[in-house]
Amino acid sequence: MKHLIDPMDLSVEEIDDIIELALKIIENPAKYSEVCRGKKLATLFFEPSTRTRLSFEAAMMELGGNVLGFSSADSSSATKGESVADTVRVVGCYADIIAMRHPKEGAPMLGSIYSPVPIINAGDGGHNHPTQTLTDLLTIKREKGSLSNFTIGLCGDLKFGRTVHSLIKALSRYEGINFILISPDELKVPDYIITDVFEKNNIPYREVRTMEEVMGELDILYMTRVQKERFFNEADYIRLKDSYILDTKKMKQAKDDMIVLHPLPRVNEIDIKVDEDKRAAYFRQALNGKYVRMALMMTLMGVTV
Ligand code: NCD
Repeated sequence: MKHLIDPMDLSVEEIDDIIELALKIIENPAKYSEVCRGKKLATLFFEPSTRTRLSFEAAMMELGGNVLGFSSADSSSATKGESVADTVRVVGCYADIIAMRHPKEGAPMLGSIYSPVPIINAGDGGHNHPTQTLTDLLTIKREKGSLSNFTIGLCGDLKFGRTVHSLIKALSRYEGINFILISPDELKVPDYIITDVFEKNNIPYREVRTMEEVMGELDILYMTRVQKERFFNEADYIRLKDSYILDTKKMKQAKDDMIVLHPLPRVNEIDIKVDEDKRAAYFRQALNGKYVRMALMMTLMGVTV
């Protein structure tokens, strides 16, 4: 049985297969509309979510299956002191696959040790978010045609942003990718990403402070929100929250075929006027999240057509 806890749990071949399957689903959704008949997805969300939880649920419904679960820790037995291990043992009696989001790093991994059914990490603290990464990869594939040979700028909260950590790890295995890390000093990527991913694999990367100095070089700009809920004190958050705002003026400096990605939710970091620019791909990205989760759940449950 396979779980998805860290993006590196999947080989490049497995990721490519999931993306291929997602593309087939997009081409002919009717063909897949009953393949999970009788199957149930449980969404265990101990932390807020809109896209991730609802796209998981929509994905299972569009495969003909059903969903159950909870959308906040308050409404689960976690408030009575139940452990994650016990929760997944029990939920595994009711569902065929589990998607779990938790504020504590490592909680879904712990769950996977005890779960009788596949567990998908739907975000664990500031650590990983592998299904957002699959969403990002499918989007890059659809928008740019390939998962290699480009310059990607990751901008914003690179310290606490779990989508950034997972995306960097996954992309580190593709050819010819040049990383530009745009953040204030306080929100740089964690040291383990620098040593274990970039340096260990000899991957070119640069850390810069402003968007302006690199806009013209980028093929992909990955914007992120400053992760308010992971700050230790509010004053730091307030000081850093508006570090970067992508607006139409900055978009003028960018290549005509650059794409803008954002895992969403957006707070202030992209001016809504940018939404009208055809290079703004973040709502298309949110739609891709549903298709790639359909492909992922079929793969982990061994459902074939
Ligand atoms: C992201 C997350 O939860 O990490 N959201 C998402 O799943 N699309 C990004 C964020 O919250 O900033």
